[in-house]
Amino acid sequence: MSGAALAAGRTVTRVTTKQRLGPDAQVDDKAIVIAPTDPSLTDPFLALSEDWFSEPGFEWHPHRGLETITTVLDGVLEHGDNIGNAGALHSGDVQWMTAGRGIIHRELAFRNEHAHTLQLWLNLPARSKMVDTRYQDLLAASRPRLTSRGVVIDVISGTAAGATGPAVNHWPVQGAIVSLDPGATAEYGIPASHRAFAYVLSGAVSIAGRMLRAGQTAWSDPLAAPAAGPADSVLRLAAPDLAEPGKVMIYSGRPIREPVAIGGPFVMTKRTEIAQAFTDFHAGAFGAVPRQARLRYDR
Ligand code: CO
Repeated sequence: MSGAALAAGRTVTRVTTKQRLGPDAQVDDKAIVIAPTDPSLTDPFLALSEDWFSEPGFEWHPHRGLETITTVLDGVLEHGDNIGNAGALHSGDVQWMTAGRGIIHRELAFRNEHAHTLQLWLNLPARSKMVDTRYQDLLAASRPRLTSRGVVIDVISGTAAGATGPAVNHWPVQGAIVSLDPGATAEYGIPASHRAFAYVLSGAVSIAGRMLRAGQTAWSDPLAAPAAGPADSVLRLAAPDLAEPGKVMIYSGRPIREPVAIGGPFVMTKRTEIAQAFTDFHAGAFGAVPRQARLRYDR
């Protein structure tokens, strides 16, 4: 939690506020936290959406060329896919899905009751877009949690504060949820080459001197080439001395710096590859749409 002597302090490049979109055909409510409008500003991340759903949720649909990282904030998420995974994830659990060359999956509320999720889209470099599909459950209970002086760091991916999260990466990213008691401070270490975002989940958190409230995201761009300066940097966090603790989700990664073509659920580098993805999906190259039953439960 304490920064190395040579770590450079990070600054905030910009702050954005989530946009509430309201209900649609799939969800009871939706918000866009990171809009996929200019991927060069968010690279290697593409989008972050927050969804509240019961019925129908997100029935069978394909993906190619990206990873989705879904954090369950509340309720129970039922998922299934065409490589045979099916299960339920609870509050705090994370599912890390590598679409690679093609997956067909669904994301529903268990028993059609209620799920509240955050889904981050992480790009894959061109050389990894057609890797094998992969699925990882990163359960809350299986992750390292570092506690010190009113700060808890729950590590999901990469190494933060000396602890390594369980995610296996194609493109290395660091991800953690940091909780701060009122008045607590932390120096959160991030490689200098990473672009980072910090999304405030609850309370208020000062991020590199900028006070953010729940629903706001601070971006911090990569520092100058590590060869010219320290390889490590710190993002200074503080919870104001109020009654409420602060909680922030922080992800960072080195920009991929390749062209981005987004077409619905597919993310490639060229428009022709998006057209090919639709052709392949409709031709059955992703496999058949699964015919799994819903998860059973005791009535
Ligand atoms: Co999906």
